[in-house]
Amino acid sequence: MQAFAFQTVPHILLEFGAARRLGDILRGKFPTLRQVGIVTDHFLAQSGVLKPALDSLAAAGWAVTVIDDVVADPPDEVVLKTVEKAKAANVELVVGLGGGSSMDVAKLLAVLGASGQPLAEMYGVDKVTGHRLPLVQIPTTAGTGSEVTCVSIVTTGATTKAGIVSPVLYADLAVLDAELTLGLPAAVTAATGIDAMVHAIEAYTSAHRKNPLSDSLARQALTLLSGHLMRACQDGADREAREAMLLGAMLAGQAFANSPVAAVHALAYPLGGHFHVPHGLSNALVLPHVLRFNAPAAQARYAELAATVLPAAGGSEAERAEAFITWCEGLSTQAGIPARLRDVGVTEADLDRLADDAMLQTRLLVNNPREVTRADARAIYAAAY
Ligand SMILES: NC(=O)c1ccc[n+]([C@@H]2O[C@H](COP(=O)([O-])OP(=O)(O)OC[C@H]3O[C@@H](n4cnc5c(N)ncnc54)[C@H](O)[C@@H]3O)[C@@H](O)[C@H]2O)c1
Ligand SMILES: [Fe+2]
Repeated sequence: MQAFAFQTVPHILLEFGAARRLGDILRGKFPTLRQVGIVTDHFLAQSGVLKPALDSLAAAGWAVTVIDDVVADPPDEVVLKTVEKAKAANVELVVGLGGGSSMDVAKLLAVLGASGQPLAEMYGVDKVTGHRLPLVQIPTTAGTGSEVTCVSIVTTGATTKAGIVSPVLYADLAVLDAELTLGLPAAVTAATGIDAMVHAIEAYTSAHRKNPLSDSLARQALTLLSGHLMRACQDGADREAREAMLLGAMLAGQAFANSPVAAVHALAYPLGGHFHVPHGLSNALVLPHVLRFNAPAAQARYAELAATVLPAAGGSEAERAEAFITWCEGLSTQAGIPARLRDVGVTEADLDRLADDAMLQTRLLVNNPREVTRADARAIYAAAY
């Protein structure tokens, strides 16, 4: 058997309504700490999503600082501003409470709050040298799986998205409370849910570090996500669907943290960088076209995955792989989100710049089952246009 290693967050709690007793949960886990910093975005801070957690923390005697500067695709200056505010408040325990953007900033705050290493030196794989503050992650989207990954994605400069990957970024505790996701609008539910599916698909076909644990997590994730996405979009209050989505996104996160994502993400990032297309939607827009491009190299894998989303699919390996890709192709339309680049403000004149930028995502492209040249990237964007 091929040797492999697998890492994840040591403590995961899935409990509907867990945020309502967050104060006691954290008191039990961190008995000597008092100052908690909650990292979130402005919308969530205003919306009432934080209320159960804030009430519970106050009742348990925590001193709480809410830092709500996070924006989607967070730029590095937001990270630095968050660190400044947390230091001023003597934050001892960092809680990321929000979508992937909030949780990614929380990870970096935890590191920068405890280490003198400059942020600029952390980009890339295994570049983080110091320790971090205690870190708890509480997702409010069922998408990124960031609560269990060792990855933080930051927008550097004006338009480039760069990753910091280090085991130091694994949280001490992830709390999955589906009650926090009940109000997620249908379009965000769809896009973030498809992001989670992409994590599972790309983990399953990764050219590097594909391993049996990630494989089974990816299959289970796809079964849960595909079985509940439309239900969660149609009725946001469907508790069972919301819990299945949150669990599926987390399992996909565990899978790709150990068997990394590839060309779908590499081609999605420039769409976020240049056009501020939300991360999940960027992935959804390029997904079917990257799958078609990969098919010659990944046909057997896609045929295996067909069994998770289309249990009745039969026929040859090529037919099952095709059925899987066709199913993925229909997802965006079915979920009611844009399906073409032209629908999100991209023009044909932008495709060259997008292809140039995608080629910079070497950390991701090396994991793709088929080599992607610049001409390939340009052709995939053209197909998605
Ligand atoms: N670290 C990782 O492993 C990883 C993996 C994939 C993506 N990412 C990154 O995560 C970010 C995307 O995260 P995301 O897709 O969760 O989106 P997000 O955190 O940017 O949030 C998207 C929007 O949804 C809103 N929202 C969040 N929860 C809500 C709720 N419960 N109810 C109503 N509105 C809610 C937010 O306020 C925001 O406006 C990107 O920067 C992406 O690059 C990180
Ligand atoms: Fe993603």
